[in-house]
Amino acid sequence: EQIEKGGYDHFMLKEIYEQPSVIKDTYRGRLHANDGLIQMAGIEDNLEKFLNAERIIIVACGTSWHAGLVAEYIFEEFARIPVEVEYASEFRYRNPIINRTDVVIAISQSGETADTMAAIKLAKENGAFVFGVCNVVGSSISRETHAGAYTHAGPEIGVASTKAFTTQITVLTMIALRLAKAKGTLSHSVFHAYLQELEIIPEKVKEALETNDRAKEIAAIFKDAPNCLYLGRGYNFPVALEGALKLKEISYIHAEGYPAAEMKHGPIALIDEHMPVIVIAPKQGHYDKIVSNIQEIKSRSGKIIAVVTKGDTQVRELADYIIEIPETSDALSPLITTIPLQLLSYHIAVMRGCNVDQPRNLAKSVTVE
Ligand code: G6P
Repeated sequence: EQIEKGGYDHFMLKEIYEQPSVIKDTYRGRLHANDGLIQMAGIEDNLEKFLNAERIIIVACGTSWHAGLVAEYIFEEFARIPVEVEYASEFRYRNPIINRTDVVIAISQSGETADTMAAIKLAKENGAFVFGVCNVVGSSISRETHAGAYTHAGPEIGVASTKAFTTQITVLTMIALRLAKAKGTLSHSVFHAYLQELEIIPEKVKEALETNDRAKEIAAIFKDAPNCLYLGRGYNFPVALEGALKLKEISYIHAEGYPAAEMKHGPIALIDEHMPVIVIAPKQGHYDKIVSNIQEIKSRSGKIIAVVTKGDTQVRELADYIIEIPETSDALSPLITTIPLQLLSYHIAVMRGCNVDQPRNLAKSVTVE
């Protein structure tokens, strides 16, 4: 097992560090930035289905559901197709409206999650076209769906999903870009800029991994916190949810992710000098809005840990601790902002003596209801 961990203390840490290379593996042969092309067989063969889709319904569970939420923002922005993101377990039991003109995208690392499988079967029975985004080749979900695109994350052993999440976002971003190209919903220059940017994302992820020492320092300060709040807006709202999930899963600290503006409708009541609040506040996106959210937290004495773009000055003045990440466009930022949050959870869990790779009560793949 030590050999399999490749010199890392845990599989989770190894998998966090594999992200630059597995993101590249996931777009290799599919993304041709210089030629302005994205080629994915599963999409090309079914392009009409996607282009005629009146709606995309994404079904998934856990971290894969969070990747689906990021995809909702990306698909709507890039390809202007309405998207709904559903917990597979809710979707399957609520007599949902499914039309023949719907495209259902099922996201699953393992390809074995029982609820996601049931949602797929239901969608198929109702005549929808079902596309899978799975990591495990030949898995049940990859076989049950009409077509699909694999993530190439390699085996993910740590129960808490890390590299599966970023590779899922990579695949979904490529699909959205391919559809945008076909539909003409992004200008030529914007489309090309995204392709170029996606190609250099692994370098930026590598740079984001350099926050490891900083994440460790901050972990040492907050490892005994009983609660933690994660806030983000827009593309980084799902990242806040995923950051909170990671912390809960492996450190057993109660954590909640929230859209930053929604904080004033509830979580703000919990903020006092004992409450660590992790705010994802990159320069691109709703920066001014998030700065005012940070001010609201500060005036209630919350402890602010902010993930900011390198060189940021405004948030630096307000936050108690900052973690600097490289600059990216708003839409691709989840691939970067999620990295320090993974590292922070990892170090907190290690410092608390938790079983990082196999947290209590959790399974890598939930094959029963
Ligand atoms: C379990 C795992 C999570 C995962 C979720 C969905 O809860 O512990 O890490 O996100 O299942 O799994 P899937 O394989 O369908 O992505």
